[in-house]
Amino acid sequence: MVWWRRRGDQFELAQAADRIRARAAALAEKLSPHVPLTEETKTLDIGCGPEPEICDLPGRRYALDPLAHFFQRQFRHSLSDQVAWVEGIGEDLPWRDGAFDVVLCLNVLDHTWEPRMAVRELLRVTRAGGHCLLEVNCLANVAYWAHRLAGRWTDPEHPHSFTEQHLRALLLGEAVGGHVFRLVDRWAARARRGGLKGTPLLKRIARALCPGRNRVEYLMEKVPR
Ligand SMILES: C[S@@+](CC[C@H](N)C(=O)[O-])C[C@H]1O[C@@H](n2cnc3c(N)ncnc32)[C@H](O)[C@@H]1O
Repeated sequence: MVWWRRRGDQFELAQAADRIRARAAALAEKLSPHVPLTEETKTLDIGCGPEPEICDLPGRRYALDPLAHFFQRQFRHSLSDQVAWVEGIGEDLPWRDGAFDVVLCLNVLDHTWEPRMAVRELLRVTRAGGHCLLEVNCLANVAYWAHRLAGRWTDPEHPHSFTEQHLRALLLGEAVGGHVFRLVDRWAARARRGGLKGTPLLKRIARALCPGRNRVEYLMEKVPR
């Protein structure tokens, strides 16, 4: 929360609205070949953060985050009052099965305590034939093992880490109520690196061992198993 509070102080609120608009436009463009986004579309954003694209998408919209009420207070000028803000966690969603046409979960899974429970909940609340867009920063093998060994001390904000192989197995391997996710499209880009700490030599060693992260996005459809 301290991290977000500092962020809230740092950024111009007008810029926050611009950033949300730009991100929403990019998201809509990405989804549009596969998913109609209309005034009828019911969309949920899980782990929405303080600048969620959902503010600028059409339809009936719900945003869930453990810090939702804090974000509403701290970032109120840039957040839409047309969105229903819900405080909660992805592992235990307060909606019925198949409640949403579209579910977004962007850069959240590695922040949760129980990623498998969160994926099962994503699958449960997406309607059959509906879509889920999930974005995760994936690590290369060496970085993944380094994170598993030392992450709890060096990176407590991310209790979990994934290689893309692990992510794919998790997303496409779960079944809920006789339904699974089918991969529709995939995008990958180099993720921004966090600031490395240490001497130049240590930084060079860290860079050689951990060649960065890929920001991977999976668009999935809920289909019968
Ligand atoms: C890196 S931010 C991403 C925010 C936003 N989705 C985005 O793409 O900018 C991660 C968010 O996940 C939220 N979060 C942490 N644990 C969570 C959980 N168990 N369930 C849902 N959201 C969680 C955090 O509060 C934070 O807002």
